[in-house]
Amino acid sequence: MLRVFTAASGCRRGVIAGRVASRLLLITGALVVVLGAAPAPPAVEPPVGTGSPLAETEFPAWAYAWEPDYRAPPADNLPQSVPGSSRRFSAADARNLFLAPDWHPADHPRMPRVVARGRRPAVRACGVCHRAEGTGGPENSSLAGLPASYIVRQMTEFKSGARTFSGPRRSPVLLMIAVAKAATDAEVREAAAYFAAVRPKPLIKVVETDVVPQTYIAGSFRVIVPGGGREPIGPRIIEVPADVRRFELRDTRVTFRAFAPRGSITRGAALVNRPRAGTTVTCARCHGADLKGTAQVPGIAGRSPSYLVRQLQDFKSGARRGEGRPQMAATVEHLSSGDMLAVAAYLATLAP
Ligand code: HEC
Ligand code: HEC
Repeated sequence: MLRVFTAASGCRRGVIAGRVASRLLLITGALVVVLGAAPAPPAVEPPVGTGSPLAETEFPAWAYAWEPDYRAPPADNLPQSVPGSSRRFSAADARNLFLAPDWHPADHPRMPRVVARGRRPAVRACGVCHRAEGTGGPENSSLAGLPASYIVRQMTEFKSGARTFSGPRRSPVLLMIAVAKAATDAEVREAAAYFAAVRPKPLIKVVETDVVPQTYIAGSFRVIVPGGGREPIGPRIIEVPADVRRFELRDTRVTFRAFAPRGSITRGAALVNRPRAGTTVTCARCHGADLKGTAQVPGIAGRSPSYLVRQLQDFKSGARRGEGRPQMAATVEHLSSGDMLAVAAYLATLAP
């Protein structure tokens, strides 16, 4: 793993990983931000979900891409472009946590300030990590089209500690919790109304395969090793942006490929649509006939499979124990990590 990671960093950027002056790297949503010499410790120390009934070996570690020692190459100020946009943003802009690059203004309603800019010092712009249109990425979550009431409730639960997380202490989720604690009710309402009004885009292509390109973790997301070899997929979904440059620039039209083991889509479809007694519950009963959600319940179609698995795991482990958890309890009670993988692979094939 380490070998691949080091080789890839040198290869992709033409620099040796670790040349970056600063020691502390904060992974923020998609990007690694290099802070100054006297870094502040993480603002929050939320408890990690405990009491997981899954055996250690069954933990779906693949869904938690996280490499805290990754050193991002420095970002420059050169104006960049992406297909279909006349706007220009630089790599440095895309690392600014108080500026959501708005590449495609015609794709969304007017962004409220909290989404576009946030509020210093602690409310980082929602539209940075979640992207201007809430399309999100494997390292966080899509928000486009979620019910406003659901978004507000999640913010309340991040704030109260009713929603924590399983797995490693990834900076993106620590920052999410810090933002939820600092945002005002009015900011949360505005952000929720905005994201609820944006139409989600179909951006994920699921590819079933036995072997995958080698990848490394650039902080909080996977990248294909350029010119790298292939390796067995194993019991994992490997989710990568189709274009890393556009992904890092937070282009909301960038697509993703999710490599999944052969047979996962069929197995997932059966679990989602026709579960046998004692396995799980038909998702459409609550998530809507097309699984795109209802006025209260979030959609689960066409979302990042890594995100979906983290949430199923969080409901199962009790890391998510908010108001909506009782409704998800029977769904996850008997789901193995292999079932979760299959369910997520299938859901990711559907239009959001
Ligand atoms: C530093 C990056 C970052 C910023 C800034 C950020 N978020 Fe998040 N957000 C995340 C991550 C990461 C998650 C997913 C946590 C997980 O994996 O469980 C998340 C999850 C969420 C969720 C849960 C989505 C779901 O489907 O349940 C909501 C709602 C949300 N964020 C809203 C917001 C709002 C509103 C703002 C701005 C006020 C914001 N976020 C700013 C990183 C961020
Ligand atoms: C009895 C109703 C019910 C059923 C059946 C159900 N869900 Fe849910 N689900 C919910 C509710 C309600 C929430 C929101 C929970 C909250 O507010 O924290 C949710 C949340 C989720 C989430 C988190 C979404 C997000 O944005 O973070 C996922 C993933 C999920 N469900 C997957 C499934 C799958 C897969 C199935 C079927 C195998 C399923 N659910 C069946 C009611 C249900």
